[in-house]
Amino acid sequence: MINNKKSANYKKSDYAIITDLHLILKILSEVISGKNLNESFNKNINVENINVSRVKDVTYGVMRYFFILNYIINKLIKNDPESEIRILLLIALYEIKYSKKPAYAITNDIVEFSFKLTKNIKIKKFVNAIIRNFLRRQIELEKELANNLEYKYNAPQWLINKLKNDYSDNWESILNCSNNKPKICLRVNSKKITVDDYIKYLNEENIKYKLVDKVIVLDNTIAIEKIPFFKEGYVSIQDIHAQKLKDVIKFEPNQYVLDACSAPGGKSCQILENNQVNLLALDIDNNRLDKVRQNLDRLNLKANTICANAAEMDWWDKKQFDVIIADVPCSASGTFKKNPDIKFHRKVSDIKNFVATQREIICNLWQMLKDNGNMVYITCSIFKEENQDNISFFKQKLKDIKVISEMQLLPDGNGDGFYYCVLKKLVK
Ligand SMILES: C[S@@+](CC[C@H](N)C(=O)[O-])C[C@H]1O[C@@H](n2cnc3c(N)ncnc32)[C@H](O)[C@@H]1O
Repeated sequence: MINNKKSANYKKSDYAIITDLHLILKILSEVISGKNLNESFNKNINVENINVSRVKDVTYGVMRYFFILNYIINKLIKNDPESEIRILLLIALYEIKYSKKPAYAITNDIVEFSFKLTKNIKIKKFVNAIIRNFLRRQIELEKELANNLEYKYNAPQWLINKLKNDYSDNWESILNCSNNKPKICLRVNSKKITVDDYIKYLNEENIKYKLVDKVIVLDNTIAIEKIPFFKEGYVSIQDIHAQKLKDVIKFEPNQYVLDACSAPGGKSCQILENNQVNLLALDIDNNRLDKVRQNLDRLNLKANTICANAAEMDWWDKKQFDVIIADVPCSASGTFKKNPDIKFHRKVSDIKNFVATQREIICNLWQMLKDNGNMVYITCSIFKEENQDNISFFKQKLKDIKVISEMQLLPDGNGDGFYYCVLKKLVK
């Protein structure tokens, strides 16, 4: 039976804009064939007359609930249709299950679009039949699937196993939390304004927020242009747990600091907003390093930037660093809320490659650190392999090393999962 309950806020025009669906289909096709969701979304979004928030909601939503939606589709079809048609079914099921739009309008929209796309009446009938079958059998199907763990936790089995192994007490809450939408957190630029003064602008604009450890966490998603004085450099968007760096390490004036994996510059800028240090921001990816430069400019901060490989020596002028920040490339398993496609893209075998790169980078950078200097090892991963196990490896491999502090932050209602470990280089 078609659900008519949801008709209250329905505007016919929502479904008349066919370009939205073309774009949604294009982005999801790219992502399902291997591209990164954020990159594909940002690259494709500059089209006129599209409803950006719908495109974002549906593309991110389908990837957020991919495992649930995909299992339902598998129950409904006998023969796998073309990839684009399967994606249309994912879109239809996502909107029916998770949006406030009425099911009849969603069905109509997707069925008509399938015909426009293929000019094939059989496909139109197929899409129509599958969606209506879902609407008829939704409760029964979902009951049948309830014992399937990938469906229940909306995650691949390897990830469920890994989290069970690493977090025997709270693996379920970690998985459940990973299905939520992320919060926007703001970091106030203390060189320009205080938190207390900045929140007056939020109040004036009626932007709802809460303060958590002096970090502003917005209640609702908002376009960047609507964030007061963002362009003027009063605030930056940075996850609340990414902002913890300030609690983990203190800097002395004029210290020479390397941010070894710096793009897009969140941690570099946070350091420079709060400390008088000489900072070198390095990254292997020049396009991403441009983002560091743009952020430094917007915030009116100064640092040298260099495009180079932190696992190599060739860029280094032999001047040792007082502090090295190593926010290394990782599985990003703490950031499923922001990057819902990661659960879909990552394979268990990827973790070993990340660990190898992390070890290469740290062992190389260690030589560039002064005696008594500190390195902060950071990942946005929640896997022990990339965090605590790596620290054990460093302790064994680099003998002149002492662990000063360690903190594993798990994803929660406000922030992502992050790992911080401060390592001191002992005098030999
Ligand atoms: C987790 S992100 C860094 C986030 C950044 N610290 C911040 O707070 O905004 C990891 C970065 O490491 C860079 N990267 C990956 N491999 C690298 C390497 N071998 N040398 C230097 N940078 C690398 C990536 O390009 C990426 O920008």
